[in-house]
Amino acid sequence: MERTFLAIKPDGVQRGLVGEIIRRFETKGFTLVGLKFLKVSRELAEQHYGVHRERPFFGSLVEFITSSPVVAMVWEGDGVIASARKIIGATNPLTAEPGTIRGDFGLNIGRNLIHGSDAPETAQQEIALWFKDEELVSWQPHLTPWLH
Ligand code: TYD
Repeated sequence: MERTFLAIKPDGVQRGLVGEIIRRFETKGFTLVGLKFLKVSRELAEQHYGVHRERPFFGSLVEFITSSPVVAMVWEGDGVIASARKIIGATNPLTAEPGTIRGDFGLNIGRNLIHGSDAPETAQQEIALWFKDEELVSWQPHLTPWLH
């Protein structure tokens, strides 16, 4: 079953949007298999955003993501990687469609509330970077087996 890595960034936590953001993936029908609340170290931030190391915004991105706690999650379900990206919306909240998380709640590209893996390879890498195997819980929701 496909899995993706999602993280509610410091602005999502600071603005009290944790419940609202998790609700969107829960009500869609995806299955939560990992969840933790943590202050991100500089080392983890630099690894997570390593692909952007040469970009001009890298320094401020690392500063921001390490500035206050985040909610790190792994979600499971058919097509969850692409679907979560749709639920999240475009990188720039000003151009993200209304109805998406970033389109509904964001204003600034540097404060876009949530991260979601963009492809199967990055999902696998990010899950391994943020979670140990024993922190992930495989389970079957009993009430909605027809969804899965
Ligand atoms: P990226 O991986 O391109 O976007 P996404 O989060 O939608 O996958 O960029 C990673 C983060 O870097 C993005 O969420 C916000 C930040 N960022 C900027 O601050 N300025 C920029 O110009 C870009 C492209 C990204």
